[in-house]
Amino acid sequence: METLVLKNNSADIEKSIQILRCGGLVVFPTETVYGIGACAENDEAVRGIFKAKERPLDNPLIFHIGDVSLLDDLVLEVNENARKLMDKFWPGGLTLIFKKKPGVYDLATCGLDTIAVRLPDSEIAREILVGLGKPVVAPSANVSGRPSGTRFVDVFDDLEGRVEAIFDEDILEFGLESTVVDVSGEEVKLMRPGAVSLEEIEAVVGKVVVPENLNKKIADESEKIISPGMKYRHYTPRASVILFEGDDAGKLLEEFRKEKLSEESKVLTLEFATVEEASREMFAAFRRADREGIDYILVEAFCDEGLGLGLKNRLYKAASKIIS
Ligand code: TXA
Ligand code: MG
Repeated sequence: METLVLKNNSADIEKSIQILRCGGLVVFPTETVYGIGACAENDEAVRGIFKAKERPLDNPLIFHIGDVSLLDDLVLEVNENARKLMDKFWPGGLTLIFKKKPGVYDLATCGLDTIAVRLPDSEIAREILVGLGKPVVAPSANVSGRPSGTRFVDVFDDLEGRVEAIFDEDILEFGLESTVVDVSGEEVKLMRPGAVSLEEIEAVVGKVVVPENLNKKIADESEKIISPGMKYRHYTPRASVILFEGDDAGKLLEEFRKEKLSEESKVLTLEFATVEEASREMFAAFRRADREGIDYILVEAFCDEGLGLGLKNRLYKAASKIIS
């Protein structure tokens, strides 16, 4: 299939809405990462997402809506915690897991009785969603297992020929996926740290349950899996990511670079001035490293605060070695 490249103008946004209406796939930017969108009501299109992304069929998709009124067709109830979080963080980088309305959208939710919903804030995403007037399911725009796409070149690399259209408009706000929080029960549970920090969420709903194995290597498959997506290897560039942790992380990194790597190895050391910069740049840097044939990416872990928690989570999953 030939993939159209679209720009941020009203004619192209209208074109993308038409494509979605006809059951096609459109890659569009959000304030977090790029998503591969399909009209949620079209099963054939939803199946197309799993295929284009090579995504396992048991990993459910996030529903994106342009207006809160669409929630009624998706969820069974909106409890007080959910309401408070929606009021504070929608539109924005927070995905909420609700009890699903029975019998709907089984394909995209992988038959679960819960459903993930997000109301994004970025201009293009909102215009598409409001224009279509229907929920759009959209996973991050990358082939499964690879780093999420935050730049046009990267999503084009992965998905050209697999989708009907791709917007050529880079993400500049977060560059890290939305935070996923389960509000389907009495307690609020963190499923995936991301663009909205845990501190910000706790300021609204009080203590949030954080899984013990959140920032642990998932090598031990016997550990309880809290979110379907968390059992898969994720965010990995072709280069080996070596993560350094602890008070001596900087020193350990230097030692490793000098003593453990051969002269011929192509090495990239990632350094960021702030977590915000790291968030915007990290996935893009992974992709660039692959294009440049880098063998090793060396990086120091982040602290658990703010965007740091989500960044650390992605690094843990991407790392082939953690040195502390
Ligand atoms: O920022 C984002 O969230 C991006 C943009 C495009 O919106 N989307 C995204 O989607 O990251 P994806 O599919 O790459 O990640 C969605 C995560 C997966 O880990 C999936 O397992 C989880 O959300 N998820 C979806 N529905 C769920 C459910 N009902 N219960 C638990 N986890 C769910
Ligand atoms: Mg993803």
